[in-house]
Amino acid sequence: MARIPWESYDNYGVNVKWAKHYCSNHQILLVGEGDFSFSYSLAMAFGDASNIVATSLDSYDVVIKKYERAKANLDILYRFGAQLLHGVDATKMKLHTDLQMRKFDRIVYNFPHAGFLGKEYDNRVITKHKNLVCGFFKNASRMLRPYGEVHVSHKTAYPFNLWNIEELASQNSLSLFEHVKFEIEDYPGYNNKRGEERGYPNIVMNHAPIVNNSQCYWVFREYFDHALLTYGQADDYIFHSVPHMLRIGFERCRAESNVNPSNDYISHLKELQCVCKRRLAYLQNRLLEIDQPYGL
Ligand SMILES: C[S@@+](CC[C@H](N)C(=O)[O-])C[C@H]1O[C@@H](n2cnc3c(N)ncnc32)[C@H](O)[C@@H]1O
Repeated sequence: MARIPWESYDNYGVNVKWAKHYCSNHQILLVGEGDFSFSYSLAMAFGDASNIVATSLDSYDVVIKKYERAKANLDILYRFGAQLLHGVDATKMKLHTDLQMRKFDRIVYNFPHAGFLGKEYDNRVITKHKNLVCGFFKNASRMLRPYGEVHVSHKTAYPFNLWNIEELASQNSLSLFEHVKFEIEDYPGYNNKRGEERGYPNIVMNHAPIVNNSQCYWVFREYFDHALLTYGQADDYIFHSVPHMLRIGFERCRAESNVNPSNDYISHLKELQCVCKRRLAYLQNRLLEIDQPYGL
């Protein structure tokens, strides 16, 4: 079961949201992202990504070709204000133009891996992986704010235990603070990526109509954007993403309504329900047309 992100207040009384070890007011750098689903998961938990810098080694074009969900994740991160960088080598990132002046509270590399270069127990392969992690630590250790942390998720079974991650960290002036079991349920929407991914088949057809000049559209614009972005794709985390988008609509109503935000919200919600029913009917008809192209 997915855990719900929790909230607290910082020293200045500002409301902050937490997702496990990460807080919405942390400056967070994510390195070696695959389909950007981990960054996406944090952004969704915080309702904001303006403190997130998410990076991949691969170029944008390669990322969206490799991973089915990458484009949707990147689009949403962009909308939530994340800085997105591609072509960032973890072993040289300190020198990257957009990173050289930056310091972070959390620098995260989940499941570092130098690529499929042979058997994982082969010494030469292990050395490649260790060089990657060592280079990452070397750079990350110089990019931390005071009390900052570097996080690496890593398999601990043989042969991955041969990487000696702790030793690599200590060679780069980092000391172990805590071992924590990585629970994927803590990060709804996160898909750990091993490399090339086989995608879901996409249903290709025109977007269902959405009238975008109504008050309802304005209040729930993230919901509609999300519906369009995920259109025709399997949305594995719909039970998290849809309530989240609706909640953003409620926050907007509350912020803008002078009289009774709940009444306004309910009336917009009813309109949204009608729009959704119309949209569903349209999609069902289109599917029937595709199934029975000759009207059989
Ligand atoms: C096993 S995948 C993990 C991807 C992602 N972090 C996740 O948890 O889903 C390893 C990732 O490391 C990236 N990578 C390999 N060498 C790298 C390097 N020198 N700098 C940055 N990323 C690198 C690969 O592109 C790949 O995305």
